[in-house]
Amino acid sequence: MTTLGMKFPVSVADRRLAVGKALLFIACLLPLARAAWIVLSGEAVNPVEFITRSTGTWTLVWLLATLAMTPLRRLSGQGWPLKCRRMLGLFAFFYASLHFTTYVWLDQFFDWQHIVKDIAKRPFITVGFAAIALMTPLALTSTQGWMRRLKRNWGKLHRLVYPVAMLAVAHYWWLVKKDLTQPLLYAAALALLLGARLWWRARKS
Ligand code: HEM
Repeated sequence: MTTLGMKFPVSVADRRLAVGKALLFIACLLPLARAAWIVLSGEAVNPVEFITRSTGTWTLVWLLATLAMTPLRRLSGQGWPLKCRRMLGLFAFFYASLHFTTYVWLDQFFDWQHIVKDIAKRPFITVGFAAIALMTPLALTSTQGWMRRLKRNWGKLHRLVYPVAMLAVAHYWWLVKKDLTQPLLYAAALALLLGARLWWRARKS
């Protein structure tokens, strides 16, 4: 039902979806609220490192959660996972932007010359930068309007989310020096999510 251009959920299912999405929205903001609390209360020993790590980790988490929505839809037979996918993808981009801003502002103090050199020189930074650069057109074209304008090309463009996730995992893997357990877990989750898609596609053809 539409009143004055605003959509109101009418059925019970619509209302449940609206409540679920509102809760998801709040859940996506909780890591940021927690990080802000820890930094502002002076609990973080090295605040810049803490913010960089926290925003980087949550970018990866929301990215993988976005990729989990299609398999979840398939396994559950429910429509809601696909309706949450865009929000999760946009939150992944939001956290990636905070992560990049922390690096540019608090770590490099807007020293663009050094930033460009760093991106070219340190492989884990190169890969992280490639990931956020590829994420940007996905975030910009995530609206219904762009979906209509790009038609079939929208789906093709948004397949970039797969290399983005691979680059993101590689970025983390590359920067970890000793204990590879965490990056390995993210890599395994990504392999599972991409493997499930390949398996379903192979069974279809
Ligand atoms: C999709 C994009 C990205 C993702 C998913 C991501 C993810 C991560 C993760 C998970 C960490 C490690 C967190 C931890 O140690 O617990 C991290 C650290 C870091 N990232 Fe990113 N990142 C991305 C893009 C970038 C970009 C564009 C830059 C800079 C150009 C960058 C610079 C850094 C730096 C400097 C660190 C800290 C390294 C250290 O502690 O030695 N990242 N990132």
